[in-house]
Amino acid sequence: MNEISLTIIDRENKHHLLKGPTDMNMNIMEICKAYDLPVIGECGGMAMCATCQCYLESETVLPPQSDAELDMLDQAFYVKENSRLGCQIQLSDEIEGIVLRLAPE
Ligand code: FES
Repeated sequence: MNEISLTIIDRENKHHLLKGPTDMNMNIMEICKAYDLPVIGECGGMAMCATCQCYLESETVLPPQSDAELDMLDQAFYVKENSRLGCQIQLSDEIEGIVLRLAPE
């Protein structure tokens, strides 16, 4: 099975080392939910709720943000320079070792 490792830092500053498949079309929001991390993902991954917002804390190079993601982050709270929507980050070999911190709810 093709899988990568990633680290999610929760809101209590606890680090969770996760493994995620790269061949199941999953994104960060979905893998967090699969591990029962406190990510709501209210819109189901449509870039319309920002409940999956997280901060990129590694040097991982991600694809550019879509207009939909930028628009959503424009309206969200607690947005920082390194904010991303977890549902817009696909699990792929390119993000092996990524570190993301969950934004406040
Ligand atoms: S799950 Fe709604 S924006 Fe990501």
